[in-house]
Amino acid sequence: MKKILIVDDEGMNLMSTKFILSNAGYDIVTAESGEEGINILKNDGIDLLLLDVEMPNMNGIETLELIRQDEEIANTRVLFLTASTSQDDMSDAVHLGAKGFIKKPCLPDELIKSVEKTLAERSKPLILVVDDEPMNHMMIKMVFEDIYRVKCVSSGEDAITFVKNRIPDLIILDLNMPVMNGQETYENIRKVENCLNIPVVFITAEDDEDTELELFKAGAMEFIKKPFIPEIMRERIRRILELKKLQDFLNDEVSRKTSDLVESNNKVNRLFDQLVSALSGAIDAKDSYTNGHSNRVADYSKEIAIRMGKNEEEARNVYNIAMLHDVGKIGIPNDIINKPGRLSDEEFEVIKSHTVKGWKILENISEFPELAIGAHWHHERYDGKGYPDGLAGDAIPEIARIVCVADCYDAMSSNRSYRDALPQDVVRGEIEKGMGTQFDPVIAKHMLNMIDEDVNYDMREK
Ligand SMILES: [Fe+2]
Repeated sequence: MKKILIVDDEGMNLMSTKFILSNAGYDIVTAESGEEGINILKNDGIDLLLLDVEMPNMNGIETLELIRQDEEIANTRVLFLTASTSQDDMSDAVHLGAKGFIKKPCLPDELIKSVEKTLAERSKPLILVVDDEPMNHMMIKMVFEDIYRVKCVSSGEDAITFVKNRIPDLIILDLNMPVMNGQETYENIRKVENCLNIPVVFITAEDDEDTELELFKAGAMEFIKKPFIPEIMRERIRRILELKKLQDFLNDEVSRKTSDLVESNNKVNRLFDQLVSALSGAIDAKDSYTNGHSNRVADYSKEIAIRMGKNEEEARNVYNIAMLHDVGKIGIPNDIINKPGRLSDEEFEVIKSHTVKGWKILENISEFPELAIGAHWHHERYDGKGYPDGLAGDAIPEIARIVCVADCYDAMSSNRSYRDALPQDVVRGEIEKGMGTQFDPVIAKHMLNMIDEDVNYDMREK
């Protein structure tokens, strides 16, 4: 994640800029003065500085002058944030290498676009040289300084301190150093957060093939023998950096694509949940006696599924299947569904057909075949005396056995036109009595546990 430092003396501006850029996926650090900003730049790996021009004590232009004079942070990419831009400020800023101006107040889209564009511009790669010989620092700087930023340190300890604050694009590491040699330094650098994949090139005056082989196996990129030939060294480093750039690009692309995929998957899931909810609302609206029945059966079924050890996705599927278990009632005439008195045998046969009708409605949803299964067989009984097919035991799909228990529980714990919800102990007794006959005994046991834990009898139609 790219890290942006915003320096602005006005708290409101800081907050709003931070809000916009955080939402756009950037890691944001803030400072209220130039001095504070420079300190952060030195200690934190900052990819871009957004700098206010008008500030008391030290204004933005003066701050940038100091930044450019400090070797450690001189290459910082800077965009100015300003309310009014004078010609003098502009020419000073350009002279100091600012990447551009963003006028305050600015639209979120404009701000994000400017930041994206500036961050996408190629900056010189940073090479960290770790060598105890000052002569080597000079030579390597001469070879590379026109094309890369080169930072030199003289010991393994200093190298580790450096990489904790800033991650270089490549490290050139002397193998023979006092106190902590190159190999130990290499191992320690790899333990620092985000440093495992920094390409490391060893330089050495000796021919030690065993060490060379060991370090190659541990992930070293290249060995260069001293004294080195500048052109060849330049070419080798250039190739390694090109390769790293390609790898970084691929990694970024993969993580961007992955997060796009996760987001679109979430969207599809939300849409599906909303459709299921709308459809189950239509079922419940049709049957005036069973207000909220589908939702409650879905809640109980999901809870049973969790107790059975199903994972989050499986439990979510059980919920949606249960939401639509009575979808076939849409195809049953209203006067039969809402008939207040006893049903005739013929009318009861029509009601029973909601299972097959539900199956027919849902069977074309090929991406989620269990939806149709729940609707089709939720009135089967464990002893084979249910409908529509008289399936028994494990021949009844598990999801249908779950919905069956939850469905019967809700029927007893809900109010009907001719009676109130049954007392909890009566409901419990019926579930217990049905174990092994009407219900799968294992699933019914989970329901009994849920009832026993429900000391206030909250699980019922309110
Ligand atoms: Fe049903």
